[in-house]
Amino acid sequence: MQNIQLARSLLKAALPFADTARRLKRRLVPYQPNMAHNGFTFDDALDMVDALRAAGVGLEGEMLEVGSGWTPIAPMLFHMAGVTHVTLTDLERLYDETSIPTAAAFLRPRLPEAARRLGMEVAALEARMAEFAPAYICPWQPGRHPADSVDIAVSRAVMEHVPAEDVAGLFRDLLRVVRPGGHMCHSIDNTDHWEHGDGRGSLMSFLCYPAESLRWRLASMNIQGYTNRFRHSDYLAAAREAGWIIVSERARVPPKVLGEVRQMRLEGRLAPEFAGRPLEDLAATATLIVARKPG
Ligand SMILES: C[S@@+](CC[C@H](N)C(=O)[O-])C[C@H]1O[C@@H](n2cnc3c(N)ncnc32)[C@H](O)[C@@H]1O
Repeated sequence: MQNIQLARSLLKAALPFADTARRLKRRLVPYQPNMAHNGFTFDDALDMVDALRAAGVGLEGEMLEVGSGWTPIAPMLFHMAGVTHVTLTDLERLYDETSIPTAAAFLRPRLPEAARRLGMEVAALEARMAEFAPAYICPWQPGRHPADSVDIAVSRAVMEHVPAEDVAGLFRDLLRVVRPGGHMCHSIDNTDHWEHGDGRGSLMSFLCYPAESLRWRLASMNIQGYTNRFRHSDYLAAAREAGWIIVSERARVPPKVLGEVRQMRLEGRLAPEFAGRPLEDLAATATLIVARKPG
């Protein structure tokens, strides 16, 4: 985490009316899709479909997405793969009238690849893309969402932004919202988001800051930039604690990152709360979980 990034984040956190400013900016300058990010979303969403199918989950039915963000590429792919109806949700309104056209424009040239990955015809995907009409709930209050109302709850690149003390609670809310025998699937980015930029630092640099250090507390002040630093096993434990049965789980552990974390341990640089934990768990850059609600 470089000083300049930290200063910029603190400035954003301190800005009054940050939401209004963002909406105004978007009216003046239309949202510019980030092709690299959208590419990750495309791959992650298809991995989630694969994981759900491999777990024997039929996709037909109602799906709820937690934290939909700006561009509904993942939910559009889920609908193309067979989901009947999607409800998008968010804590703050990032989705607008440009969101569906932007997702469609990104997906159209990639339909042949999506068709190959999904084992479907391009024409069938095009037809389903045209009829994608999700509901949108914002601000979403998980505790107030109707019980037993969806078959599958999903999220992508969201759980790492949920405050650590709220993760198990959100899983408990989803357990209530999903019908008995239904599923949840989460694709989670476990990396240091401050290191996504120039690739000079380690994707696990943030494991070196003690939770109580001034630097980490300052870094956590901007809600937009907050990450809980949960490791792969923490999500599994929180899901089980909430009452979910883990059906499948996958941690991505790139050898380079594993080597970097090993070096941090050898040099005594890991923060005390991470120092004694298994290296593979610390170095897992991504988590993919499918869990089933009993019943
Ligand atoms: C990095 S964006 C990901 C957006 C989208 N899922 C995607 O893959 O492009 C994180 C999203 O999670 C939302 N979010 C953060 N914390 C949340 C929470 N506790 N409950 C619901 N949504 C949350 C944010 O508002 C934002 O839309």
